[in-house]
Amino acid sequence: MDILTAMQQRVSVRSYDGSRPVERALLDRLMAYAGAVEHVTDMCARIALVSGVERTRRILTTIVGSYGLVQNPPHLLVGVLPEERHLARLDLGYTLEQVVLEATRLGLGTCWIAGSYNPERAGDAVNLAAGEVAAAVVALGYPVEQGWGRFHSRAVRQLVGGHKRKPLTEIVFAGRWGEHWSPGGSDSTMVAVLEHARLAPSAVNRQPWRFVVQSKDLVLATVRPAPIDAGIVMAHVALASAALGQPGRWTVRWGDEHLAPECGLPPEATPVAVFAWA
Ligand SMILES: Cc1cc2nc3c(=O)[nH]c(=O)nc-3n(C[C@H](O)[C@H](O)[C@H](O)COP(=O)(O)O)c2cc1C
Repeated sequence: MDILTAMQQRVSVRSYDGSRPVERALLDRLMAYAGAVEHVTDMCARIALVSGVERTRRILTTIVGSYGLVQNPPHLLVGVLPEERHLARLDLGYTLEQVVLEATRLGLGTCWIAGSYNPERAGDAVNLAAGEVAAAVVALGYPVEQGWGRFHSRAVRQLVGGHKRKPLTEIVFAGRWGEHWSPGGSDSTMVAVLEHARLAPSAVNRQPWRFVVQSKDLVLATVRPAPIDAGIVMAHVALASAALGQPGRWTVRWGDEHLAPECGLPPEATPVAVFAWA
């Protein structure tokens, strides 16, 4: 599966076959990929693996009794920050989403979890060094393909509206914030990249990202400070651009006081980064 197809096919899987751990060779391949992945800040996040349904169950919190929103994952990828900083969270989104997409290519199910897990227990499971923070986990395993489990996974996705995305015309502006942008008058590669950015997962499917197209650059801002979601969408842009034969590079400008007025950002928006095509 190529990376664009992985972006198109990835969905959050919330019910796993707990009796089917991922094969050692596949896990090794995925963790080697995680260790070599490109970072976007020098606050490098690291990714650790926890295996065993009993261990993952202790980390994931439940809603009623033993009923979990994300059920029976045989593995969790734990996203570890070197310290609690927005830039480290941005890096985590950027790196861990690349691993999520690689897992999708390998035929595995995933689900980002930043709400319903216990950070202390996740930290204990991966032996945090002083200052490190377990900032999110990703469930990993084979999806349950039938019966209640499949229904559960689909029903929760429907409930949180996970299948919906805002139209590009709502999240992309031409030149300055608020200026109408239309795919018709734009470079077709840029439109394809933005289409794949739009498919990125985000917490509660809030899709906080907004793009301002400035000549050949793409400016990313978020409507609230959401660094993990921002990092995730940055990974989609970088990977899609490279896959479409026009690689480019992100420069992080989190909270940059010059970028905000240049793009006419409203006070509630946070400037994040600029993507320049080579
Ligand atoms: C940073 C982040 C945190 C998330 N936290 C949770 C969570 O705690 N529980 C959950 O069930 N889903 C969680 N999700 C999954 C989102 O709800 C999901 O990505 C979104 O609804 C879009 O659906 P899709 O991933 O199926 O395309 C999270 C996603 C992201 C990116």
